Amino acid sequence: MKTEEIKYALSYGDVLLVPRKSSIDSRRKVDVSTHLTKGIKLNLPLISANMDTVTEATMAIAMATLGGIGIIHRFMDIESEANEVRKVKRAQSYIIDNPYCIGPDKTVEEARYEMAKKGIMSLLVVDKSFKLLGILTDRDIRFVKDDKTKISKAMTPRARLIVGTPGMTDEEALKILDKHRLEKLPLVDRNNIVRGLITSKDIYKMIHSENSAKDRRGRLLVGAAIGVKGDYIERATKLAEAETDLLVLDIAHGHSESVFDALKNIKKATDVPIIAGNVATKEGTEDLIAAGADGVKVGIGPGAACITRTVTGAGMPQLTAVIECYEASNAHGIEIIADGGIKASGDITKALAAGAGSVMIGSIFAGTDESPGYFTIRNGVKHKSYRGMASFGANVSRKRIDKKEVDPQEIFDIVPEGVESSVVYKGSMKEVVNQLIGGLKSGMSYCGAANLEELRKNAKFVRLTNSGLSESYEKLS
Ligand code: XMP
Repeated sequence: MKTEEIKYALSYGDVLLVPRKSSIDSRRKVDVSTHLTKGIKLNLPLISANMDTVTEATMAIAMATLGGIGIIHRFMDIESEANEVRKVKRAQSYIIDNPYCIGPDKTVEEARYEMAKKGIMSLLVVDKSFKLLGILTDRDIRFVKDDKTKISKAMTPRARLIVGTPGMTDEEALKILDKHRLEKLPLVDRNNIVRGLITSKDIYKMIHSENSAKDRRGRLLVGAAIGVKGDYIERATKLAEAETDLLVLDIAHGHSESVFDALKNIKKATDVPIIAGNVATKEGTEDLIAAGADGVKVGIGPGAACITRTVTGAGMPQLTAVIECYEASNAHGIEIIADGGIKASGDITKALAAGAGSVMIGSIFAGTDESPGYFTIRNGVKHKSYRGMASFGANVSRKRIDKKEVDPQEIFDIVPEGVESSVVYKGSMKEVVNQLIGGLKSGMSYCGAANLEELRKNAKFVRLTNSGLSESYEKLS
């Protein structure tokens, strides 16, 4: 090898986008919609990372409501991950096809457990043939002292319920909910068999969320992560049964034989689209597409909690990784996701200009109300926990999910490629995403781009010198 043969590679901070002539006079005229795969359209090019301090159902619901998508992490048992997917799928369809039900002979204690486990506020009370007997809401049992009280004693009985029919439209349902000031409207057929449930909250949300990313049945989009070892086929199958819109095959080094094999096996087991990664080269992208990937995730080591580059010496500055992977993906009409290293909205503009169809974000979103992390106070400032999924703690948690007794040698052998830390608390996802998308839209207008296709076409990068760097980023605080 000769020194002069070593290529330069760039990260987001090394470049700026050259301002171009623009006819865009308002951010409202900028369209940021994109495709994740050929069949999945997003209204925002943002994805929340499949990390245990970033995305569970609450985050995924917020993401899809705002127009992006969240990927449920896999650091939990299969049933729990499928349950997170189901929570998202139920969150915004105005008709819940299979509402959660309970028998009249069960106890208040059992109902409380079911409600807490499923994150819901009511249960329909049915007999064995699913005939509606009543409804039980959290209000009915809030003050019940005796846990062993039978549901039949605490519920509102069928005779006092107003019900709808399975074929009714949203307008008809709205009228009834409004007229009787109802929260829930069970749908029953002529034989009083439960066929669905409409909630006023869901209808209201549907009316006020035109920008949400939805499937064909009006339900929020959601993705779920899987690995390539052990029970991954069972996990993929259960997630598909829970109606995930997307599987993300997420491995630190995605350019490997085990990922190609796993991709092929999963493709045989389910027809849910699969995004595979992570890679950082043209060859990696080509090989994943050849193995059947419907999308490719790009990024080796740019993440805020990643120490892969320090620990292993391997990686690729993220802007170059995106540019090279796009060269391969574009030839096949497949989208890539720029994963990790987004520190500010300007980095999103650069990633999309370089060819990414969307960006995946961890640390910025970890600081919001919707992330599953816990709060800490550091130096008097409110923080939320954030850890790399290859950190020591995450590795130990993973092993404990797989088996109860972990061999101490296995713990000793862990070589972490991520850190466990925290990020400053930032408020709600709505506020954070609003700022990110506002910045992106302004960045697009500087490039004279009314949509992401035009951004790719118009983008011209310049490299920064040291003084360019300090002029750009060293500002008053
Ligand atoms: P940001 O910068 O948005 O990056 O926080 C999120 C992405 O970081 C990746 N990730 C890791 N990479 N070791 C790594 O090398 C880790 O422990 C780790 N955990 C997460 C992942 O791609 C995520 O989407």
